[in-house]
Amino acid sequence: MQALHNKNIVLGITGGIAAYKGPELVRRLKEQGANVRVVVTESAKAFVTPLSLQAVSANPVSDDLLDPQAELAMGHIELAKWADLVVVAPATANTIAKLAHGMADDLLTTIALATAAPLAIAPAMNQQMWHNPMTQKNVAALTAYGATLLGPGSGEQACGDVGLGRMLDVPELVSGVIEVLSTNQQLLAGQHWVITAGPTQEPIDPVRYISNHSSGKMGYAVAQAALEAGAKVTLISGPTKLAPPQGADFIPVITAAEMHQQALSHATSANIFVACAAVADYRVAQVADQKIKKHEDAMQISMVKNPDIVADVAGLTQGRPFTVGFAAETQDVEQYARGKLQRKNLDLIAANNVSLSGQGFNSDDNALTVFSADDRTELALTSKSQLAKELVAIISSKAERKA
Ligand code: PMT
Repeated sequence: MQALHNKNIVLGITGGIAAYKGPELVRRLKEQGANVRVVVTESAKAFVTPLSLQAVSANPVSDDLLDPQAELAMGHIELAKWADLVVVAPATANTIAKLAHGMADDLLTTIALATAAPLAIAPAMNQQMWHNPMTQKNVAALTAYGATLLGPGSGEQACGDVGLGRMLDVPELVSGVIEVLSTNQQLLAGQHWVITAGPTQEPIDPVRYISNHSSGKMGYAVAQAALEAGAKVTLISGPTKLAPPQGADFIPVITAAEMHQQALSHATSANIFVACAAVADYRVAQVADQKIKKHEDAMQISMVKNPDIVADVAGLTQGRPFTVGFAAETQDVEQYARGKLQRKNLDLIAANNVSLSGQGFNSDDNALTVFSADDRTELALTSKSQLAKELVAIISSKAERKA
């Protein structure tokens, strides 16, 4: 598999001669499976054209913090949330100084400040500028804040000087990016996540059942995102057409009762429990042994309540994991979601409005509002795989704070 498969990289290019390597760097990152969005500073455009970067990245290039068009589509906050990694290559002494001081006077520095993703910087400057104590102090501050330094390399410089300050070559930068992301993947290392997904099917007779429109896409995306962040994942799934994510411990079930039994037997070994499944609230009281024959004009099926899986997990008195529910609502989303958060004793609830077209059940995209007892976070409409990454990051940081 490609080392950067499905990774979202914001590549910031600043105004140094090494900016000419930008298109090549984009190509090599994409070869490794990454999705690349390029952000250029004003001075970078003197060294490399946005058009060539757009062509190689197959994405629009962003350059303006105050661009109304971009704010409607992928503005600075969206890009900051979208990123799994922000790489600044080349990073000039000026940009390094701004980043070290938390300045945000252009799109790139604003994204760097607004993102929860790791930051990697590839310095490129004259050797004297690199050795200047002010630059060294700025670099030390940035690394102390958690940024990773890629380089610089040593050798002959564009200005004729020889020494440290050259931007690393593209293959070295790509290796550095892979290393930063694989280290970061270990964000959830050692954690066990148990996730429910898909619908349940409640039999009526040997040939009929009651179910719903859940495709499993949202829950499987959460499982994939947790796996990619280094967690051990147990995915308990009702019937879907999806292939289980590679590396997950996969437990297929049919009914709510089976899901309940599996969830409770795995939850006590979990750090995090995420209930994304659309569980049938009721099951048929008396499942017929034989196919029910058509005799009457009308028929009644008597149903009984299923156990509430997520409420039972949240109610565990020993080994209770951090418990996250979903709420599928068609109206009064906040009111109903907050009601479930409280009634089911959950730590978080991710609410979706399933009455809107193009999101919710059986679509590739979704939008969520994540509620805790004291706050809310909006996750804008995007692909379920991207949304899952954002949700996993929120769950992880809330769970860490609670621990
Ligand atoms: O699968 P997709 O097609 O990708 O669609 C995704 C989704 C719409 C199914 C998903 O985003 C979602 O909203 N999942 C929860 C669906 C649901 O059943 O919501 P609810 O509001 O009825 O239930 C609230 C919570 O209680 C959920 O976490 C649910 O898993 C849980 N529950 C409900 C009943 C029950 N007996 N046991 C439960 O654990």
